[in-house]
Amino acid sequence: QQARAFAPASVGNIGVGFDLLGHAIEGPRDVATVRRIDAPEVRITAITGDVPGVDRLPLDAPRNTAGQALIALRERLGLAHGFELSLQKGIALGSGLGGSAASCVAALVAANALLDAPLSRDALYPFALDGESVSSGSRHGDNVAPMLLGGVVMATHDRMIALAVPAWLHAVVVHPDQMLETRRAREVLAEPYPLPLVVQQSAHLALFLTGLQRGDASLLREGLVDLLVEPRRAPLIPGFDRARQAALDHGALGASISGAGPSTFAWFESKAEAEAAAAPMRQAFVDAGFDARVHVSPV
Ligand code: HSE
Repeated sequence: QQARAFAPASVGNIGVGFDLLGHAIEGPRDVATVRRIDAPEVRITAITGDVPGVDRLPLDAPRNTAGQALIALRERLGLAHGFELSLQKGIALGSGLGGSAASCVAALVAANALLDAPLSRDALYPFALDGESVSSGSRHGDNVAPMLLGGVVMATHDRMIALAVPAWLHAVVVHPDQMLETRRAREVLAEPYPLPLVVQQSAHLALFLTGLQRGDASLLREGLVDLLVEPRRAPLIPGFDRARQAALDHGALGASISGAGPSTFAWFESKAEAEAAAAPMRQAFVDAGFDARVHVSPV
């Protein structure tokens, strides 16, 4: 028995929801092919794909996000059988597009289809967190959750909530040819934050969530401003400030770092606006000396 599943790339944090909010995008994706085997173990047979970093991914299951997720699934469900897994990477590692999370979610969804009693997406969430934490060193669901549910998702430590999204909302995501390790991008957040700044960020998050719920562009514009994480990470990403500015100059509701970076995203009120901003946002990274890929997607 064999099953295949894909998981899309995602924009983690969405600026104001550090480790809490994320959304899936159309375009890049990872594909997992899983076979049910009699042996009580998880094996990874191959990892292929024409993306940077693929050669550095471990085939050793406990050290691989997808492998670890399936190990957790087997152990917690007490399965007698095992899984054999191969991965086809379409999302670059260290890109800020959820590359490690996508392998893990694709593998889980494929393996789930092979269970005698498949689980709900909600029930798969803890296993996805188990897998993803292998790569980032921390348990956060802002990437795996939108990959499991689609759309914009709020991901707490133990549950996922899909949020309403206005139909006109579109994102531009630019992936510059740089690699930024999530662990490194988290190190710069270690120093404490002053409480007044946290309060101001809370206001932004509240405005942002209310804007989403009401489909109110001006609330989203006020809310999509990250005062905590972006200022500390932006210096790690050459070209980011100019790409963000290019987005705002072209009418973006807001723009920030996708996940741990270096990918950069912006939200727009229409597909046409997003398409018009895509080339200037990409050009900002080219001017900084990097090749870059750009994706326009409904949110
Ligand atoms: N939220 C994580 C971070 C990355 O910003 O470090 C995506 O899971």
